[in-house]
Amino acid sequence: MTDRPMLDRSPFLQGPYAPVTEEVTAFDLPVTGRLPAGLDGRYLRNGPNPLGSDDPGSHWFLGAGMVHGVRLRDGRAEWYRNRWVRSRTVAESLGERWPGGPVHAGMDFAANTHVIAHAGRTLATVEAGALPYELTDELDTVGPCDFDGTLPGGYAAHTKLDRRTGELHAVAYFWGWDHLQHVVVGPDGRVSGTTDVPVPDGPMVHDFALTERYVVLLDLPVTFSTDAAAAGSRLPYTWNPSHQPRLGLLPRAGTTRAVRWFEVEPCWVFHTLNAYDDGNRVVVDLCRYEGVYDMAALIGGGPPTLERWTVDPAAGRVTRQALDDRPQEFPRVDERVVSRAHRYGYSAVTALVDRATVQVDGTFRDAAFADTLLKHDLVAGTVGEHRLPRNASVGEAVFAPSTPDADEDDGYVMAFVHDPDREATDLVVLSAQDFAGPPVATVHLPARVPLGFHGSWVADG
Ligand SMILES: [Fe+2]
Repeated sequence: MTDRPMLDRSPFLQGPYAPVTEEVTAFDLPVTGRLPAGLDGRYLRNGPNPLGSDDPGSHWFLGAGMVHGVRLRDGRAEWYRNRWVRSRTVAESLGERWPGGPVHAGMDFAANTHVIAHAGRTLATVEAGALPYELTDELDTVGPCDFDGTLPGGYAAHTKLDRRTGELHAVAYFWGWDHLQHVVVGPDGRVSGTTDVPVPDGPMVHDFALTERYVVLLDLPVTFSTDAAAAGSRLPYTWNPSHQPRLGLLPRAGTTRAVRWFEVEPCWVFHTLNAYDDGNRVVVDLCRYEGVYDMAALIGGGPPTLERWTVDPAAGRVTRQALDDRPQEFPRVDERVVSRAHRYGYSAVTALVDRATVQVDGTFRDAAFADTLLKHDLVAGTVGEHRLPRNASVGEAVFAPSTPDADEDDGYVMAFVHDPDREATDLVVLSAQDFAGPPVATVHLPARVPLGFHGSWVADG
């Protein structure tokens, strides 16, 4: 396996992935429809936006992070901003002074994968050893964040907030470690505990899941490759057939916090939807790629489909159930149900991502499902579709409740959707309970937002 795409050939520098070259600040954006009253806050989304030819943009995952944000208040779209995360390299490329701050293991990086808010901070996050970057409410870089010096190593791209305890959970990994590190950041924004979990081979652990009792670990056979690193790969993680794929249950509490591991079949998982305890069992919903996964080419043995894994500690096994065979990614729940039983999930069918990452010959297996958002009712067993225009290249959808105490799914689903006619992006706001219907509001941004990764709705208050 080699790093296939060269800079001038990478599909991730073209079309809907092409980086933008300007930072934009625009106020009072035009809105079609009506923004719901009470939908006050910021929709934020992070993604790679390589900064010129010196940026290691040869792989989608390596471009410098750029955070895009839309501020909604009182039925108005107050502003749109996009800002590069100022790592040292980015700051110097822009002719600015790097704000400085802690760096783990020399891995300063413009965090490009997720953007969250916790304990009053807005954080751009990334995995594999680097630290998050703190941003202002208006997306300017404050500097790297090690949670006031309480984080011993690097951090993680994906986090899970337990809203009942206020604890923010993460699972960090780093090629120089012989373990994963479970990290809990308390509601005060400081690390309240870490647990090292020994693992062989240095696996990539992009995401995990949380239940009320367990941290659910995914130890799958994409592992750090010294050969790939020696050959100059900047993403030296390769399929390792000798690495036993397994799922781990790490108890969240108790004096004996030993992980119990369960073997699973070879596969790859970037993202979980959610997990919860079901009696003595644990239910984990996730998007799974069949068989061998090529991290350099971002191609698995099949498209990612939504599955339910049920972990039965008494029987010592994990059973799999297909939930939806459409190719889909970026699964999200109503964040208020993280770690507890969920009924609904939202995911994206992104034809352009699939063409670039799933189908080796560049074809998409079912054009009818191109550019569609999905809403899964996992109790009724139904799937709702919101179909977008061809070439709309929709990204991850994020749920925002209509009020803080509203029922699950009582709220809005938001996503950036490219408008090829305008050559610019819209923030589309759907009513979750009229999912197939027309958007309740569409905010027209003055610029294109490249296809990227993950985001958050950060409600005021
Ligand atoms: Fe992710």
